[in-house]
Amino acid sequence: MKLKAARQAYQPICPDILKNLLSLKCFEEKATHPSGQLKSLFPKTWESPFLWARKGRSLKKKSLRVGVLFSGGQAAGGHNVIAGLFDALQALSVKMRLIGFLGGPSGLISGKSKEITKQLLKPYRNQGGFDLIGSGRTKIASQEQLEASLKSVTALHLDGLVIIGGDDSNTTAAILAEYFKSQDSPVSVIGVPKTIDGDLQHPYAPISFGFDTACKTYSEVIGNLGRDALSARKYYHFVKLMGRSASHVALECALNTHPNLTLIGEEVAAHKRTLPEITKTLVELIVDRASLGKNFGLVLIPEGLIEFVPDIKDLIAELNLLLSQRKETVETVVLKLSAKSKACFLSLPLQIQHELLAERDSHGNVNVSLIETEKLLIHRVQEELAKRGDYTGSFNPVSHFLGYEGRSAYPSNFDCNYCYALGRIAAVLIHQKRTGYMVCIPNLKAHPKKWKAGGIPLTTMLHLEMRKGQMKPVIAKTLVDLKGSPYRDFVKKAHHWRLEDDYQFPGPIQFFGDPRLTDSLPLSISED
Ligand code: FBP
Repeated sequence: MKLKAARQAYQPICPDILKNLLSLKCFEEKATHPSGQLKSLFPKTWESPFLWARKGRSLKKKSLRVGVLFSGGQAAGGHNVIAGLFDALQALSVKMRLIGFLGGPSGLISGKSKEITKQLLKPYRNQGGFDLIGSGRTKIASQEQLEASLKSVTALHLDGLVIIGGDDSNTTAAILAEYFKSQDSPVSVIGVPKTIDGDLQHPYAPISFGFDTACKTYSEVIGNLGRDALSARKYYHFVKLMGRSASHVALECALNTHPNLTLIGEEVAAHKRTLPEITKTLVELIVDRASLGKNFGLVLIPEGLIEFVPDIKDLIAELNLLLSQRKETVETVVLKLSAKSKACFLSLPLQIQHELLAERDSHGNVNVSLIETEKLLIHRVQEELAKRGDYTGSFNPVSHFLGYEGRSAYPSNFDCNYCYALGRIAAVLIHQKRTGYMVCIPNLKAHPKKWKAGGIPLTTMLHLEMRKGQMKPVIAKTLVDLKGSPYRDFVKKAHHWRLEDDYQFPGPIQFFGDPRLTDSLPLSISED
């Protein structure tokens, strides 16, 4: 039997609370906002409470029509959100229709959609990717886009719209929920926390889906590189890891594989470490290891690192402002930068200068996955080693970028179960006419049967941030907490990993056999 078919046959574990969906009531818990600043922008949805699924009286089935879309980068498990949503709508409806908007938010704006039927969905259950309906990065922000979105959901007579996305896409869900309500539309808007980056978190939503599968996929490769380094004893593997800003992915992979050095962006920012200081740390590692006869090693670099280096962070902020007004070239931009940023910009290799000027995504984010930080660091280390007359060891670096290969892999059992449950919760909230929520499972460490189910009012997650030169309400990205236990655990062990080679070899994601292997949780959420 091929793995595809075997995975199609996998039955996600359904939490007990989400089994009989017609016997659920939404228990309300008062929500507070970090600040009242944004209340005037969200008058219709501001007062929404937290919701918790509890056993209640028997509810009636309805006729439900729901739209769904993927937004942003792929994350393993997305198809299972749709599967959970589909199966739950069947249980909650006398008659149901599930409509997928094609290519992400742009499909909602243009009204491009296709109906998701049982037959169509079947081959996608427990499979990676978003290819059933595709995804995209269009931002719904202008009045015309809001009106077009309302027109699409109204034309299809939808009761609900499910937006499966990251921080920016759940911000869009908050804006659409408010807008639909202000227009007296009954369409519920529900967000689902997706992103491999792991930076969409809340005390009631410990991690987004896709993070587990991506980190396990990268950890397999990092472990293999570690073993290769240990065997050949002549290469330094510099591995850049996807995960736009926060270093959650790098931290999780470090805990899984024990590399010699892992740079953590948040630590760099906290200690205001400059590029020369980071280079020095790397050079010291290489020199110290060479003195033990070890001219090999394994280094992890989060792709967002560059944004945390203070000088480069200021430079990027200036560039963002300039690029929000017009396209710039290396020649034109240097004339407009402040003296400090100009010096920083000019100190970077030309290739990196061009990469920093590349087009931002529609939310104003720098495409850090295209910036070759790993090569920049290798280059700087080579320069420094050459300057030191006394270095007699060898330095043969090999650069790697692990990113896209982890986003659409077969979802781990954890992501299969998690996504299926999230889809079911979305259906429950739509059935109960709730809007402006992100679905959540607060106790992911428990056995899936014992998972709780709830909804976080999206407005409680918003704050003001500079985007494309203007202050905008957005969901704040959750960065690595330097006081949190995953980071503290890492710091405790990382010193030992520097010179002792304690590489771990996690191997591929396991789907069959011992549940301790198949059902493991991400380390970042499994330890307190
Ligand atoms: P999301 O926030 O949309 O989940 O993005 C995830 C991500 O994979 C980042 O880690 C990465 O920086 C970015 O997408 C790459 O973007 P693209 O897919 O457009 O190349």
